[in-house]
Amino acid sequence: MSEDSRAGSWSSADSADLYGIDAWGRGYFAVSPHGRLLVRPNGAGEEGIDLLEVVEGLGERDLSPPLLIRFSDILAHRLRVLREAFGGAIAEYGYRGQYLAAYPIKVNQQRPVVEEVFRYGTEYDFGLEVGSKPELLAVMALTGGPSERLIVCNGFKDDGYIEAAILAARLGRRIVPIVEDPGELRLILKHARRHDVRPTIGVRVKLASQGAGRWKGSAGEKSKFGLFVSEILQMIELLSAHDMLDALQLVHCHPGSQIHDIDRLKDAIGELGHVYAELVRLGAPIQYVDVGGGLGVDYDGSRTRSESSMNYTLEEYAREVVYRLGSVCDERGVPHPTIVSESGRALSAYQSVLVFNVLGSAGPRTTYPQTFPVPEDLSEREDVPQPIRDLVYAYEAVEDGRLVECYHDAARAREEALNLFNLGYMSLELRGLAEQLFWGTCARVQDRLRGLDEVPEELEPLEDILSETYFCNFSVFQSLPDAWAIGQVFPIMPIHRLDERPTHQAVLADVTCDSDGQISRFVDGRATIDVHELIPHSDYYLAVFLVGAYQEALGDLHNLFGDTHVIHVRLHEEGGWWIDETVEGDTAREVLGYMQYDAERLQPLLARDCEVAVREGRMTVAETRMLLRFYQAELNGYTYLEADS
Ligand SMILES: Cc1ncc(COP(=O)(O)O)c(C=O)c1O
Repeated sequence: MSEDSRAGSWSSADSADLYGIDAWGRGYFAVSPHGRLLVRPNGAGEEGIDLLEVVEGLGERDLSPPLLIRFSDILAHRLRVLREAFGGAIAEYGYRGQYLAAYPIKVNQQRPVVEEVFRYGTEYDFGLEVGSKPELLAVMALTGGPSERLIVCNGFKDDGYIEAAILAARLGRRIVPIVEDPGELRLILKHARRHDVRPTIGVRVKLASQGAGRWKGSAGEKSKFGLFVSEILQMIELLSAHDMLDALQLVHCHPGSQIHDIDRLKDAIGELGHVYAELVRLGAPIQYVDVGGGLGVDYDGSRTRSESSMNYTLEEYAREVVYRLGSVCDERGVPHPTIVSESGRALSAYQSVLVFNVLGSAGPRTTYPQTFPVPEDLSEREDVPQPIRDLVYAYEAVEDGRLVECYHDAARAREEALNLFNLGYMSLELRGLAEQLFWGTCARVQDRLRGLDEVPEELEPLEDILSETYFCNFSVFQSLPDAWAIGQVFPIMPIHRLDERPTHQAVLADVTCDSDGQISRFVDGRATIDVHELIPHSDYYLAVFLVGAYQEALGDLHNLFGDTHVIHVRLHEEGGWWIDETVEGDTAREVLGYMQYDAERLQPLLARDCEVAVREGRMTVAETRMLLRFYQAELNGYTYLEADS
C-alpha cells in the first residue's frame, strides 16, 4: 500500500494491489486509472473493455443483474496459449510428435461454448472429449463437416453409447471410444462388426501413481475408471484374437483435476510413458498418448500448492509432459507419439465473469453510524448509570495512541450495561444508547487503524466484529456451487469505485433463504472482503471471476432461483465491444415447470379463486383483472430481484 493511500487518498493501483488482480487475473483483468474494472480478452498490454459499461449497456437492453458475461475472445486466447505452450516445449526438447487438445465438454457444455471451442480450435486441429452418451449425442451433431478432429469418448458406456460412437465413426468422425471397463471392449467389437467399421480404440490405464489435488481419487489403483495392467493384457489378447490389435491407437490416464503440485504430474506421466512403450512392444500401433485433464487454475493467485492454486505455470506443465514422455520414449527406443491433453478448467475458467448488484447491507456499521450527537442532558440525568457514562467517555476519547485503551473501556462498559439491563435496572432506550456508543467507538477506532503500519494484536478482532453482511442479487447454489460444496475460493471484487478507498469489510450473502448461501472465504484467506459503503439509490456491483469451468452445469435451483442471463461479449475489429449472443435466464414459469408445476394449470386455479372473491364482494372485477395480469407478468419474469418498475 502506498504512503498516500495510508495517509488518506486512494488510487486504482491500491485497489489492484488490495484485490490481488495481477496475481489471479493473468493479464485478462486490470483496473483502469478511473477506478473501473477492465477486461482484456487478449491478455496483458491490450486495451480493455470497461465492465461497468457492459453492465450498463445490458441494462439498457432490459438485461438486469445477475449477469454471466462470457468473453469469447478470452476462450480463443486460452486455446492459443495452450497450443503455444506445447509448441514451445516440443521445439525446445526436439520432440518428434505433435500436440492436440481434446476439450472435455463437461467443464462447460453450454452449446455456444462448445461451438466456440470447436470453431476456435480449427486451426490447431483441437478436438473434443465426452464423458456420457448425451454429451456424445450433442458432439456427434455439432462436429459435422469434413473434420478429422479427435472425439475422445470417456465415462461409463452402455450398448447405446458405444453404438453411437461406432456410427459416428461410420459417418467419418475420428472418434475414439476409451475402454475403461473390460466389458466395453466386447460391445465395441460387436458394433464394429455389425456396422462394418474398423474403429480406433483407446484404453484408460489405472496408474499406480497417486493423483493430485482435490480430485486425486481420479487416478491411482482405487480410481473409478481404467483397466488394471492384467486387464490390459487380456484386452490385447482379445484384440489379437479378432485380428484387431491395429485398432488400439490411444492410451489414456487422468491424474485428477486442478493438479496443484507439479511433482505429482511427473510420476503419472512417467508411468504412462512406460505403459505406452510396453504396448508398442506388444504390437499395438499406439499413435496417441492422452494425459487427461488436470492443468490447474490459480484461483487465489498465490502460486502455491494450496488447493485453490498451483505451483507451476502453463508453460511448465507443457514442458513437463513433453520432456517426460520424450525421455521415456528415447530410453525405450519407441516413436514419439502425438500428445493429447484433455485440459478443461484451464481453457474455460477465465472466459466467464458473474456480475451482481448489492441489494443492501446489515451490520453494526450500517446500523450505527460512527458520528452521532450524544444527548446533552446525559451528565445531569440521575437515571444514567456509570457504564453509560464510561461509554460516552470512551467514545469521545478516541485518538491515536489511545485506541486499545478506548476499545477495552468501551467493551467492558457495554458488558456492564448489558448486565444492568438483564437485571431490570436499565431502560431499553439506555440500552440502545449503550449499543450506539459501543459500535460508534469501535468504528472510530477502526478508522484510525488505517493510518497505522501495524494493527495492535488486541484490535485484530475488530475487523470481524465490525464486518457487515452485504446482500447480493445472486444464488451461490446456482452460480457458484463449488464455493458452497467444496469450499472453492473465487476472486471477487467491485467493478467500479476502485479509485475510492473501500471502507467496509463484508461477508457476501446471496438471495436464497439459506444460511449456507453466502461467501465468507476470499482469495486472501480472510473471511471478509473490502467493499465500499453503499450509496442510497446508487447501484453497487461486484463480480466473481474465473467461473467459466464446472459452475454452470453443477448449479442448482435452490429456492427456485434459475439460470442467470448469459451474454457473449466480443471485441469488435474496429475497436470496442459488441454483444454476440444473449441467452436469457430462466423465467419463474420455467423453473416452476422443472418442478412439475404447470403454469397453464396454476393460472386457472387462481382465476377461479378471483371469481369467488368477486362473488363474495371481497374484490372488484377490475381488481381481479389487475391481479391476474400481474401474476401472468411475474410468471414470465426473471427469477432474481429486479429494480422497482
Ligand atoms: C477424464 C477427464 N478428462 C478431463 C477432465 C478435465 O479436467 P480439468 O478440467 O482439470 O482439465 C476430467 C475432469 O475431471 C476428466 O475426468
